[in-house]
Amino acid sequence: MNAPDHTITTLPLAAGTSRVHESARAQVAGLATYVDDMPEVRGTLHAAPVCSPVARGRLRGLDATAALAMPGVRGFVGAADVPGDPILAAFGHDEPVFAHDTVQHVGQVVGLVLADDVMTARRAARLVKLDIEPLPPVLTVHEAHARQQYVLPPVHVARGDAAAALARAPHVLEDSFEVGGQEHFYLEGQVAYVLPLEQNQWWVCSSTQHPGEVQHWVAHALRVPNHAVTVECRRMGGGFGGKETQAGHLAVWAAVAANKLGCPVKLRLDRDDDFQITGKRHPFAYSYRVGFDGSGLLCGLQLTMLANCGFSADLSGPVADRAIFHVDNAYFLQDVAISSYRCKTNLQSHTAFRGFGGPQGVIVIERILGDIARHLGLDPLDVRLRNLYGTNERHVTHYQMPVEDNILDPLITTLAQTSRYRERRQQIAAFNAESPVIKKGLALTPVKFGISFTATLFNQAGALVHVYTDGSVMVNHGGTEMGQGLNTKVAQIVADELGVPFERVVCTAADTSKVPNASATAASSGTDLNGRAAQFAARHVRDNLAAFVAGLDGCGAGAVRFAGGEIHTPKGTRRWEDVVGAAYANRIQLWSDGFYRTPKIHYDKTTLTGRPFYYFAYGAACSEVAIDTLTGEYRVLAVDILHDVGHSINPALDIGQIEGGFVQGMGWLTTEQLVWNAKGQLTTHAPSTYKIPTTGDVPRHLRVDLWPEANREDNVHGSKAVGEPPFMLAISVYEALRDAIDQAGGDAGSVNAPVTAEEVLRALGG
Ligand code: MTE
Ligand code: HPA
Ligand code: MOS
Repeated sequence: MNAPDHTITTLPLAAGTSRVHESARAQVAGLATYVDDMPEVRGTLHAAPVCSPVARGRLRGLDATAALAMPGVRGFVGAADVPGDPILAAFGHDEPVFAHDTVQHVGQVVGLVLADDVMTARRAARLVKLDIEPLPPVLTVHEAHARQQYVLPPVHVARGDAAAALARAPHVLEDSFEVGGQEHFYLEGQVAYVLPLEQNQWWVCSSTQHPGEVQHWVAHALRVPNHAVTVECRRMGGGFGGKETQAGHLAVWAAVAANKLGCPVKLRLDRDDDFQITGKRHPFAYSYRVGFDGSGLLCGLQLTMLANCGFSADLSGPVADRAIFHVDNAYFLQDVAISSYRCKTNLQSHTAFRGFGGPQGVIVIERILGDIARHLGLDPLDVRLRNLYGTNERHVTHYQMPVEDNILDPLITTLAQTSRYRERRQQIAAFNAESPVIKKGLALTPVKFGISFTATLFNQAGALVHVYTDGSVMVNHGGTEMGQGLNTKVAQIVADELGVPFERVVCTAADTSKVPNASATAASSGTDLNGRAAQFAARHVRDNLAAFVAGLDGCGAGAVRFAGGEIHTPKGTRRWEDVVGAAYANRIQLWSDGFYRTPKIHYDKTTLTGRPFYYFAYGAACSEVAIDTLTGEYRVLAVDILHDVGHSINPALDIGQIEGGFVQGMGWLTTEQLVWNAKGQLTTHAPSTYKIPTTGDVPRHLRVDLWPEANREDNVHGSKAVGEPPFMLAISVYEALRDAIDQAGGDAGSVNAPVTAEEVLRALGG
C-alpha cells in the first residue's frame, strides 16, 4: 500500500493537507516563547525548592536562617504559609502542598527559597536545614502489596470463570515479570510564573496540559474563587502526560510565595530537581497464569498487576484502570480475572505518561502470546492472528464493550505482506544459523487503543471563534499545544468550515478566562474534542453569514456556499472580506462559541463495565533487531508501521506523531532505566545516567503508512486520535529482542523491561 501523498493535494480544503505546524518556523528560529522566555515584570522573585533528602520520616523542624542570611535572598515559604487548604486540591486529596510533619519521598518539596535571581535561590535552598527522623521506607510494590499499603482500593474485573478454564486448559504457563517507569524528559522543564494583580486577582503563566486544573488548585490553595485566577498557556515544550497534573504543583508553590511576599514569582525547576520531584510513568509488576490449547488459542487468564503509584494517588486510579482496559489489546479473552493493586511506595507520585497505563496493559498479553508461541513451537504472528477479536462473534471486551469497528485482521495481514514478514522470518533463521555472534529477531505486534477519557465527564470541550472586520479569524479553544499540532489542526478545521484560506485563521493561547472548565489536553482526544467544538463555533458564525447573504440574494440559506475565500449563491459570488464587512455594518454577530460532548459513551465506575471509549484506534508494527551476544548491545534495524488515523486531518503531523510515539515507546522498553537505590534516591536523575533515544537510535529503515479508511464513528472530518496509540507499537521491539534472545539460546521468558544491554546479556546467561 502506498502512503497518501503528503505534499500535494487536489482538495481545496485545509483539512487533509500537510500544513506546516503553526509554530514550526518560530520554534526553529528561537522566536517561539515559552514561560521562561516571557519578559519579567519588575520585582519578580525567583524560587528554588527545598527538598527532602529522606524517603520517609518525621519532619521535626526546619531552619532557614543561613539561607535567609545570604545576600539577595528575600524569603522562605513552607506549609505554614498556605492561606487556604494545606492539602492540594488533587483528586485523591492526599498530598500536602508543602510537606509538613512527615516526608514521603526523596525530593518531596518542603518549601521554597525566594531570591532576586535563580542561582542565588538555588544555592540558598541548599542551606535550609531539615530536622528529619528517618523511618524505614517502602520502595517496592512487592513490599507495599505484602503490607496492603495502597493509595486507592484494589480493583477486580472478571468475565466467565478463569479458574475453571485454567483447570480445563490443555496447556498452562505461569510467570511473573516487570516493566520500568519512564521520565517524561520534556525539553522544557516544569515552570510557572505567578503575578499578583489588583484586588486579589491572580495571573498564572504555566506550562500545563490542564490550565483549568491549575486555576482550580491555585484558587483552592489561596482560598479565592476560581474567577480570581486566570491561567494561560501558549505552548509547552512537550508534556507527554507529565504536565497533566504535575504542572499544578509548581503553580501552587509559586502562588503561595507570591501571596506571602506580595510580588511576582517565577519557579523553574532545573533538570535534576525535575527528575527528583515530579512523578513518572508507573512501573508495573505482574504475575499470571494463562491457559491455551495446542493451536495457541487462549482459554483462560488470571492476572495480578501491581502498579507502583508512589506516595499519593494523583492519576493512579485512572492509569491503573486503563491498564485493565488494555490487557486484551487486540485479542478476545473469554475467561479472565484481573486484579489491580495501586501500591503506595515512598517514591515520587507517578502520573500520566503517553498511553496512560495502556502500554502497561498491552505488554502483558503481547508477552504472553510470544511465550505461548515459543512454548508450542509456532510462529508468534500465527498465535496473534488466532486470538484476534472477531467481527461478529468473539467481539466483546472483558469490560463488556463490543468492538464494532474492528479492522485488525486486514490491517495486520496488509502489514505482514508489505513488510514481507514471512520471507524475513526465513531469512533471519538462515542468517542466525550462519552467524555465531550476531543474532537477529523479528516481531509483528498490533495495537488497539480506546479513545476517550475513561472518566466520561472529561469528554467535553468548548471553543470561541472570532471573525474580525477585516475577515481574519481568531480561534480559542480549551486545548493546549505541546508540540502535537493541535492548534494547526483546529485552524484547518475552522478554515474549512468558513471556506477561508488556512492562513486567515490563528489559534491563540489556552486561557481559562476565555473557555472555562476545559479538560486536560490528554487521552489523545485534543482534536476530537476541541476540533469539533471549534467546528461548531465556526458553523454558528457561518450560519449567521449565510442567513445575511440569503437575505440579500433572496435565496434559501442552504443555497449559500463558503469556499476558497468566497461566498457563493445562485445569484453570484462575493469575497469573504466584503461579506464580513457588510455583515458587521448590518449588526450581524461575527463571533460565537461552540460546545461538544462525545456521544455514546457511558460506564460504571464500580464494575468498570460499559462503553468507556467512543472508538478504537488501530495499528501494527513489524520490527527487526540484531543483538551482539558477546556484549548484549543491539540495534533496531528496520521498522514498518501501518497505523490507523482515520481520514487524516494533517498527514505530516500524524506521521510525526506516529514516528515520535514509536521512538518514545522504544526508549521506555530499551534504554530508559530508572534506578532508585536502597535509600529511595533516584540515582538516574540527569541525561548522563538516564538515556532517552538519540537520533542515532532511530532505525535506519522506519516506514510509516496510514490506513486508508475514515473513522467509522462520526468524528471530526472522519479522523482518529493519534497522540498515544503509536507508543504501543514499540512493543514489537520488545518482542523482537526476546525473539533474538531466544534464537541465541537465551531465556526470553525471563526478560524484564527495559531491555538494556545488561538485561540482554543476563538473559543470555552472560
Ligand atoms: N507530541 C508532542 N510533540 N509533545 C507532547 O507532549 N504528548 C502526547 C501526544 N503527543 C505529546 C505529543 C500525549 S501524552 C497526548 S495525550 C497527546 O499528544 C495530547 O494531544 P492530542 O490529544 O491533541 O493528541
Ligand atoms: N487519559 C488521560 N488522562 C486522563 C484520563 C485518561 O483516560 N483520565 C483522566 N485523565
Ligand atoms: Mo497523555 S498521557 O493522556 O497526557
